[in-house]
Amino acid sequence: MSNDNQEQTQRRSEPLTSVQWGGDKLILLDQRLLPDAIVYLDLFTPEEVWESIHAMKVRGAPAIGIAAAYGVVLGARQYGGVDAAAWDDHVVKVSAYLATSRPTAVNLFWALDRMKGKAHELAGRGGSVADLNEALLAEANAIQAEDEEVCRRIGENALPLFRDGMGVLTHCNAGGLATAKYGTATAPMYLAQEQGIQLKVYADETRPVLQGARLTAFELQQAGIDVTLLCDNMAGMVMSKGWVQAVIVGTDRVAANGDVANKIGTYSLAVLAKAHGIPFYVACPLSTIDLNTPTGDNIPIEERPAEEVTEGFGKRTAPEGIKVYNPAFDVTPHEYVTAIITEKGIVKEPFAENLAALFQA
Ligand code: MRU
Repeated sequence: MSNDNQEQTQRRSEPLTSVQWGGDKLILLDQRLLPDAIVYLDLFTPEEVWESIHAMKVRGAPAIGIAAAYGVVLGARQYGGVDAAAWDDHVVKVSAYLATSRPTAVNLFWALDRMKGKAHELAGRGGSVADLNEALLAEANAIQAEDEEVCRRIGENALPLFRDGMGVLTHCNAGGLATAKYGTATAPMYLAQEQGIQLKVYADETRPVLQGARLTAFELQQAGIDVTLLCDNMAGMVMSKGWVQAVIVGTDRVAANGDVANKIGTYSLAVLAKAHGIPFYVACPLSTIDLNTPTGDNIPIEERPAEEVTEGFGKRTAPEGIKVYNPAFDVTPHEYVTAIITEKGIVKEPFAENLAALFQA
């Protein structure tokens, strides 16, 4: 074993869990502080959950949805009455509030709709508020457990696209930290590792919040996977050298026509991949596919504070008063997408028909 391999094996450790239910509270890993510090936050109110999503202490589409589901549980527990219908109304209000925490990842709205639907069904059956709260918690637990299962299936479906020795480039963090476990884009990397298939992963650092450097590089390194960190502007150079045989990313929302919203910089990567004849894969659960959003033009793109761009390395890195444009996501037109890999299989052109078919079976 080479020194490098020894070092990676020694570093291998249990994956961190982003979101956990703690009996009477939500325990969140503060992803803003990684990899410097592993700090867990105890959240007791929907307001704290809203702030944690908004400030990206928890981030990544599926993890946001899971956290929001537990936020509904915390909110439901604040209802002080005994009336099931009023409890249901209260859950609707809490869900509407949590829905304002971030706009782009559709998993947030998917999870909140599922929690509201479950609350409505439960309230219709009646019972004590304590029992309703317990059953609502079970739904949030199910959302989390299903996400782990779904990510594993995404990995199983994606794995045949990868061969031993392949170079694979990813952007942002669509990893275990962004989901219940395994991640979406990273799921085939973890499954490849389980099966002794060696992939050489390139992780874009992902300006401005550095999810690639702080999170993807960190979690893959912790898992003992061969990962090399790149600045975002190095992807073209690395592709031109022939080091990358596939790009795989996650997504925050797939429109009905197959357009894909993901972390800013994804679109540039897709164009680069096409120019170099490299397949561009998107991995996501069905909960990220939004058939109610016709095209990428209809996906709301979050803009984040200018300070994310003007401050870095613990200091100001741009002149005071400079104009800044800071969209958190971009849209990759479906023409650039080779395939979308879901828990139900791999979807290719024509995306509109094939995505819709996923929901019919
Ligand atoms: O702003 P973030 O960090 O929440 O953005 C995350 C991404 O863009 C991920 O690629 C996406 O949510 C998929 S996570 C499985």
